[in-house]
This record gives sequence, structure tokens and C-alpha cells, in this order.
Amino acid sequence: MNRRLFIKILFYSLFSSFFSFSKELKKNRIFLKKIPSSGEFISSIGMGTWLTFDIGYNTKKLKQRSEVLKVFFNSGGQVIDSSPMYGTSEKVIGKSLRLLENSNNFFAATKIWTPNTWHGKKQIENSKSYWGVKEFKLLQVHNLVNYEGHLETLYDLKNNGIIKYIGVTTSHGLRHKKLKDIMNNHELDFVQLTYNIIDNEASNYLLPLAEEKGIAVIANRPFQGGKLFNIVNDKKIPTYAIDIGIRNWAEYFLKFITSHKTITCTIPATSKINHMQENMQALHGHIPTSKQRKKLYKLFINL
Ligand SMILES: NC(=O)c1ccc[n+]([C@@H]2O[C@H](COP(=O)([O-])OP(=O)(O)OC[C@H]3O[C@@H](n4cnc5c(N)ncnc54)[C@H](OP(=O)(O)O)[C@@H]3O)[C@@H](O)[C@H]2O)c1
Repeated sequence: MNRRLFIKILFYSLFSSFFSFSKELKKNRIFLKKIPSSGEFISSIGMGTWLTFDIGYNTKKLKQRSEVLKVFFNSGGQVIDSSPMYGTSEKVIGKSLRLLENSNNFFAATKIWTPNTWHGKKQIENSKSYWGVKEFKLLQVHNLVNYEGHLETLYDLKNNGIIKYIGVTTSHGLRHKKLKDIMNNHELDFVQLTYNIIDNEASNYLLPLAEEKGIAVIANRPFQGGKLFNIVNDKKIPTYAIDIGIRNWAEYFLKFITSHKTITCTIPATSKINHMQENMQALHGHIPTSKQRKKLYKLFINL
């Protein structure tokens, strides 16, 4: 083999292995979003636990939930959201985590839900022992209940370096005006509110305000509590969605949310392994551009 041919073959083999390597990287790339107050990146699909993890002390269901959690972690999921309001969910999260070998490096987020400030402090301690975590990354005031009292507790914890982030949550349009006031008058790292392809009122003024203030947004009820699947029923997803790499309705609904520039993360809840697999597909592949998400919206509304 002459020298020129050798260099050519070497160049092509290096080039093609680099090309397939970068293709592989692209394929496995996870859609991360930045938390404005810290610059930390988190994966844009997290997990909710209301109802789906409130399974009491049923050991068979516990094993299933830990399998659901395993798929979540293996697919790159990080944020787990819960609350003392969700019955046994926090205990079930802790037990499920203990059943898994590799459950480090997740983003533990829970809430305070009580009218009493002293009881809020007690709830945080209880939640830590239920989950089996040293500290939470994010603590939120659930449904704005006694937010003034609880925010004082949370600022203390944050100033002492015990928790990293503070937030408030709601899921009712009725509380949006109150939420706007709180966002304007208190320093928050996160807000959690309802945003999905139908309940998108937050985009009128709450999302622009979050962007202006540099507050991360967690979108709850991404499937409208599951109702979105009843609307689409057995209908196939539009060809347009398939053409931009969307494989199922779950991915359609979730990517519609996470492709919004101000949404940091959404937290679909599921009790099923196959649903978790579908949901986590939204962490990968093409992310719709703003033009494409408008088209996805139109196609869904005109189904
Ligand atoms: N104020 C607040 O702070 C507040 C209020 C509401 C919610 N949240 C948080 O947000 C989380 C999410 O909201 P959500 O639980 O109300 O409702 P959601 O995530 O919109 O919907 C959950 C429902 O969707 C179904 N589902 C999930 N993935 C599916 C799939 N791929 N295909 C078909 N069905 C699927 C689940 O059933 P299967 O179990 O059969 O999959 C479940 O019934 C809550 O769990 C909670 O953590 C917070």
C-alpha cells in the first residue's frame, strides 16, 4: 500500500468512527434545562407521585413502584416531586429507593402542607426520614398554604446551606393572581404550576413573569391527570409529529411542555413501567422548535 492510500484510509476510518461516535452521542443526549438562579442543569422530565405512589403497605405494588423508579433513573430522570399531602407516597418513595442499588444523584423535591409554621418544620423532618435523604434539594410551599410563615423557615434553611432551592406550588387557576403577587414580592428559585396542552393559562402572565424574574418552572398535571389520553382515545398521532420524531401521545404532550422556553421540567406521574418508558422518551431525540410546537398545538386542538 502506498503512503497516500494509507493516509486516506486512516483519515476515513478516523472520520467515520468520529462521525458514528457523535451520532451515538446525539442519540443518547438528554434534554436538560437550566435552573436560572444557580445555572445548574436538570433533566426536563421528572416524576410526580400523587396517587400513583400512594399505595399504602402493599408489598407487591411496592416492588412494581421500585421498578418504575428504576426505569426513571436508567432513562436519565432526576426530579422526584412529592408532598406530605400525598398519603403514603413519601414512605413508598423511601422504600422503593432502598430496593434499588443505584439511586444516588437524584433531585429530591417535596413540600410543606400545613397551616402551622411549627408543624411545617416537623413535616420537613418527617419527610426526610420517610425518603431516607439527608436533605432535600428543593422544598416548596404546597398550594400556597401559610406561605409567609413557611417561606421564613425555608429562607433560614437556604441561608444555612441546608437546602439549595425554595419554591411555591399551585394547580388552580383561581390562585394564579396570588401566585403572581408572591412571585413579585418574594425571592423564589422555583414555582410549580399547572401547564399542559389544554390548561395553558399560565402562559398569559405567569410564565413571562417567571422568565423576567429568573424563576425555574415545574409544570404539574402534564396529562391533565390522565384525561388527555381519553381525549385522543385510540387516535393515531399526526404524521407531522412522527416526521419530527415524536413516537407516541405521551411524548407529544410532554415535548409540547418542555419545548416551552420558560419551563424547566415537568413531572408526569405513573404507576406503570411501560408508561414510564413512554414518558421518558420525551427526554431524548428532537425537541420541537417554537414553530413546530405551535403546529403540534393546532393539530391537537383540531383533532
Ligand atoms: N399543587 C401541587 O403542588 C400539585 C398539584 C397537582 C399535581 N402535582 C404534582 O404533579 C404530578 C403530576 O400530576 P398528576 O399526578 O395530577 O397527573 P398527570 O401526571 O397529568 O397524569 C397522571 C395520570 O396519567 C396516566 N399516565 C401517565 N403516563 C401515561 C402514559 N404514558 N400513557 C397513558 N397514561 C399515562 C397515569 O396513569 P397510570 O398510572 O396508569 O400510568 C395517571 O393516571 C403529581 O403526581 C404531583 O407530584 C402538584
